[in-house]
Amino acid sequence: MVLETDRLFLRHLTPDDDAFILELLNEPGFLRNIGDRKVRSLEDARRYVLDGPVASYAKQGFGLWWVGLKATAEPVGICGLIKRDVLEDPDIGYAFLERFSGRGYASEAGAAVLDYGRKTLGLGRIVAITKPDNDGSIRVLEKIGLRFEGMVTLPDHGGDSRYFVSDA
Ligand SMILES: CC(C)(COP(=O)(O)OP(=O)(O)OC[C@H]1O[C@@H](n2cnc3c(N)ncnc32)[C@H](O)[C@@H]1OP(=O)(O)O)[C@@H](O)C(=O)NCCC(=O)NCCS
Repeated sequence: MVLETDRLFLRHLTPDDDAFILELLNEPGFLRNIGDRKVRSLEDARRYVLDGPVASYAKQGFGLWWVGLKATAEPVGICGLIKRDVLEDPDIGYAFLERFSGRGYASEAGAAVLDYGRKTLGLGRIVAITKPDNDGSIRVLEKIGLRFEGMVTLPDHGGDSRYFVSDA
């Protein structure tokens, strides 16, 4: 368990989350706005969890976490912090299953992750990147208090990205 909010709890991802990860990473919104992680089987999903989030927990002490409903324990998305080689500061990231969209879960999890990054992890600047036209994600970032700084071009990000920052 990493943290909880009114409706959600966040915990470490494990390879047992393979079916959920396989579904999430192949949703149209994920493929369009984040990218194709080429996860096509349960085995691919387990590899993704181990090489991505689990490796990050070990190296950084944070990563993308599993987000689920307190009421039913169902997974609804992932949200957390990522340290990329191409960015100086950790960035906040999230993706939610489309059938759970529009209920405020991204904003609720995102606000809690920012607070955790500050208070528990002691991070200073936390940033975010989005595709230029990812209106949903831009709205989430603005709601949780990040501000648009400008455009950046990162390797392997398919063109320009919007760059948002939040200072402690
Ligand atoms: C973007 C995403 C995280 C939004 O999740 P969500 O749980 O639906 O977001 P919330 O319910 O917290 O919505 C927050 C605000 O954004 C708005 N919003 C959500 N999706 C939107 C969209 N597609 N277009 C415009 N506004 C949108 C909501 O109306 C809400 O605004 P309000 O509070 O002023 O009414 C979700 O659609 C998703 O996972 N998309 C695919 C992956 C992705 O793009 N991740 C981010 C990569 S940078």
